[in-house]
Amino acid sequence: MKLNTACPTHPTTPDTLATLRPKPATVVALYPGSFDPITNGHLDLIQRGSALFDRLIVAILRNDEKRPLFDLEERIEMLREVARDLPNVEVGSFGGLLVDYAAESGASVILRGIRAVSDYEYELQMALMNRRLRPEIETVFLMAGEAHSFISSRLVKEVIRLGGSIGGLVPPSIEVRLKRRLLEETGPE
Ligand code: PNS
Repeated sequence: MKLNTACPTHPTTPDTLATLRPKPATVVALYPGSFDPITNGHLDLIQRGSALFDRLIVAILRNDEKRPLFDLEERIEMLREVARDLPNVEVGSFGGLLVDYAAESGASVILRGIRAVSDYEYELQMALMNRRLRPEIETVFLMAGEAHSFISSRLVKEVIRLGGSIGGLVPPSIEVRLKRRLLEETGPE
């Protein structure tokens, strides 16, 4: 492989160079996920992403096959509610390929969080596939805050269904909605 040796400590292959674009004046990042529902781990990433990028679009995957607890409109409403104090954060939804939605939205960055080593393999696979599909879009990973590294939407739903406390794991307004939804599902005792 022929290396570009202009910088001896940081050689760059011609392939990499070909995909590099000048930094856009406004850096738009997309933070995709299912958000069923949003947790404090997601919120932490949204807050940190909003401080790093000019605009952050939180993008909810439209996928009814997963049979979400909250439908798309509810998830959009919940995300808008918890991110209302962050003026550069928007909420959108997408079906199809994530990188196509990123390109349509003018995003040059996909933002994802990594909680533990176990997330790494799946995230690496997705990042490399997305790079292959659209090399001009970079995936940027942020490490989850240590207080959030064990939180997932799936576990939050399991704990609340089994009667455990989820205080501090999701924003208070989401806890209220979760309790209400489970009452609707099971009916009053
Ligand atoms: O919250 P999740 O379930 O971890 O989010 C996964 C998500 C939405 C990021 C991922 O499923 C996704 O990007 N889906 C869109 C389909 C796609 O683009 N697939 C090909 C690239 S891996």
